[in-house]
Amino acid sequence: MTSEALARAESLIATIPDFPEPGILFRDISPLMADAAALRAVVDAVIEPFADAFDVVAGVEARGFMLAGAVAIAAGVGMAPIRKAGKLPRPAASVDYALEYGTASIEMSDDLPRGCRVLLVDDILATGGTLRAGQQLLAELGLVCAGTAVIMELDGLGGRDVCGPVHSVFRV
Ligand code: PRP
Repeated sequence: MTSEALARAESLIATIPDFPEPGILFRDISPLMADAAALRAVVDAVIEPFADAFDVVAGVEARGFMLAGAVAIAAGVGMAPIRKAGKLPRPAASVDYALEYGTASIEMSDDLPRGCRVLLVDDILATGGTLRAGQQLLAELGLVCAGTAVIMELDGLGGRDVCGPVHSVFRV
């Protein structure tokens, strides 16, 4: 991966004012994900610090799924979904959390063996509530969080203070 490839990937993240609510500056990774070279560069950058240190990648619904699926194939591991409440047929753990805009709950099934090393990924780190809840879900299910990674971290919202060390490919 080159710094040019990553710079181009970052340029493909769209910034949408006042979505989904007035005052929110929404970062849309869809154009990045639609570009093969940009997707490859970002996936490699997500994996790099954790190479061979995780057995499964878990992604948070919904855009975290997109990243997690790509990371799983590139790293040669499986993928586990962390879903919004009410979507899983066999939820084994549930955690409530605060979002930048509103509140939510996320859930996970009990499909992974105890002690499994899980790389937790999402597209964006904002206030950190989502990833903190994801970390709590992993702990409740006896899983080891091998690392937490995002494509883009929004500085100034305190996310890192909430969910601890995070590997961010981009920070704005
Ligand atoms: C967005 C984003 C992260 C989360 C980050 O998800 O995809 O998951 O917010 O915010 P936080 O750090 O303040 O918790 P959203 O709830 O919009 O879900 P979506 O991906 O299903 O649209």
